[in-house]
Amino acid sequence: MNTNYWPVDSNVDNIEGYPRIAEAAQYIRDNQIVAFPTETVYGLGANAHSDEAVAQIFKAKGRPADNPLIVHIAEYQQLEKLVAGISKQAKLLIDAFWPGPLTLIFPKSPGVLSDLVTAGLDTVAIRMPSHPVALALIRASGLPIAAPSANRSGKPSPTTALHVQQDLNGKIAGIVDGGATGVGLESTVLDCTGEVPVILRPGGITKEELESVVSDKIEIASNLLEKTDAPRAPGMKYKHYSPSAPLYLVDGEVDWIQSLINEKRKQGLKVGVLASSETKQKYQADLILNVGSRKQLDQVAHQLYYTLREFDQSHVDFIYSEVFPQLGVGVAIMNRLEKAAGHHWLIQDKQD
Ligand code: TXA
Ligand code: MG
Repeated sequence: MNTNYWPVDSNVDNIEGYPRIAEAAQYIRDNQIVAFPTETVYGLGANAHSDEAVAQIFKAKGRPADNPLIVHIAEYQQLEKLVAGISKQAKLLIDAFWPGPLTLIFPKSPGVLSDLVTAGLDTVAIRMPSHPVALALIRASGLPIAAPSANRSGKPSPTTALHVQQDLNGKIAGIVDGGATGVGLESTVLDCTGEVPVILRPGGITKEELESVVSDKIEIASNLLEKTDAPRAPGMKYKHYSPSAPLYLVDGEVDWIQSLINEKRKQGLKVGVLASSETKQKYQADLILNVGSRKQLDQVAHQLYYTLREFDQSHVDFIYSEVFPQLGVGVAIMNRLEKAAGHHWLIQDKQD
């Protein structure tokens, strides 16, 4: 398949009038799949009403069919058609955070969306992205767009059109290139179908921000705290976000991390380090990448997937990653890093 490429300047006025957006939207209406930028990561979009269209997403990504997709909308009126009810809490959160990186789980209206979108569940995940290109594409297509991140299943989510190309070129109808995404990590997924809202996936909007809007406490899904329970967001059970080389999280002093690096290099392995601006200069390794400042976790979030993908480009054999404080967006950063590492941790014995 020839994959079209549509560069779009997201800063222009009247973006919906762009012929390239109109062309991409026509592919969506024709039940073909198209990648597009959102404020979090690039999504791979399909007409959410069509089995034929949505099936192509699972095929192109190599995604397990039991992992449901997020439906993207541009107007509040679209929501009312897709869901069987909007709770008071959900309404408050929508008013506060939409458009933006918050996905809410609702009871779904029966018979409206393709069942493939929801993987057979009676709930549906919906968000209204804030990226002007995403909004323009949804409006121009006149459809709700089902879209997971536009990476091959298991790989870090794409934060540039080039990443999408690397993973999906030849497998999808086109890529709308709106430049690098902002947040860099996926939306927060929040289940508001029960009494207490539960975070199923930490993301761009933090627990503290959510709690400032709903008076109740927000819970975090138990599987995110202990790694034993069955996951409630079906997608969270799969290995994710991983570079090709094994990745270990290392919690300790730079000297100790350096001794680990030295051991691997003695075995003839090419070692990469995911470091921060504060520590980058202090390591000796084959590839040291600076993911951003420990004092600016937004920057780390923005660059995390880009950095993980850089390790693949330079074919390192082994990666050590520093860990970051679990504060604010740091919770989402560590959630993704833990998954990228398959929960492999090395912790320095402080008595050493
Ligand atoms: O920022 C984002 O959310 C990006 C952009 C493209 O919008 N999308 C994204 O989609 O990250 P995806 O498919 O990679 O992740 C969707 C997550 C998965 O963990 C999935 O299991 C969960 O949302 N999910 C979807 N529908 C659900 C449902 N009905 N109940 C519980 N979890 C659901
Ligand atoms: Mg994904």
